[in-house]
Amino acid sequence: MMQNTNQENSPKPPCQISRWHNFETQDAINQTTLKRILAAANEAIANRGRFSIVLAGGSTPKSIYALLKDAKADWANWHVYHNDDRCLPVDNSERNSLMARTTWLNHVSIPANQIHDIPAELGNIEGAKAYAKTLAGVPTFDLVLLGLGEDGHTASLFPNQAVDNSADAVPVFDAPKPPADRITVSQQRLSNSREVIFLVTGAGKQDAVNHWRNGVAIPATLITPENGVDVYCYGVTF
Ligand code: 6PG
Repeated sequence: MMQNTNQENSPKPPCQISRWHNFETQDAINQTTLKRILAAANEAIANRGRFSIVLAGGSTPKSIYALLKDAKADWANWHVYHNDDRCLPVDNSERNSLMARTTWLNHVSIPANQIHDIPAELGNIEGAKAYAKTLAGVPTFDLVLLGLGEDGHTASLFPNQAVDNSADAVPVFDAPKPPADRITVSQQRLSNSREVIFLVTGAGKQDAVNHWRNGVAIPATLITPENGVDVYCYGVTF
């Protein structure tokens, strides 16, 4: 009689639906992303009275945040979160929250209590606990923006690092991309979004893109929203 091994009964992780878009210029990827963000905001506010967006960190999204600085939007109904941040002082130039504020958020009229920085200055354990409380009760995100690291990481979900998916925000130790201590929103919470856009630019991401498209389980593949993910690329080939 066939033995039913546990593996046969264990639930399979959801597989990722991905749609790939290759842009010829940086301006094209920026303008398309800007239009997509504003359209998602209009739809969310019209239908649900609020727009919740989760920002990517790193350098790639900076040019898009600079376009948002000058955009016309119903800012009063925007709610801004971050997908990760580095455990550094609030005024450290490496903080993702500071980059978003100086590039965009300080220049528009989103109510201060609707901009939710990750309190990474508290340290990864206390900061993650605090952010998990912030996210508790936040409904499905409308739009999550994510970057891609050269090793295939996204947010602060790094290769060979298990993530506690029972919490919405979790501490990260020994991150290979400095600083070692970070806080990340979990893959399961990042996947709870109507739309997800990955922003991937530069030849340095080519290996990660190749692995991703060849079915290698890089951390970016952990993001599995029902409606799939859109991968916006510039400067990589496929
Ligand atoms: C971080 C980011 C990280 C980033 C990628 C890509 O805190 O570093 O959240 O996931 O998005 O490393 O970074 P670049 O956009 O700078 O290439």
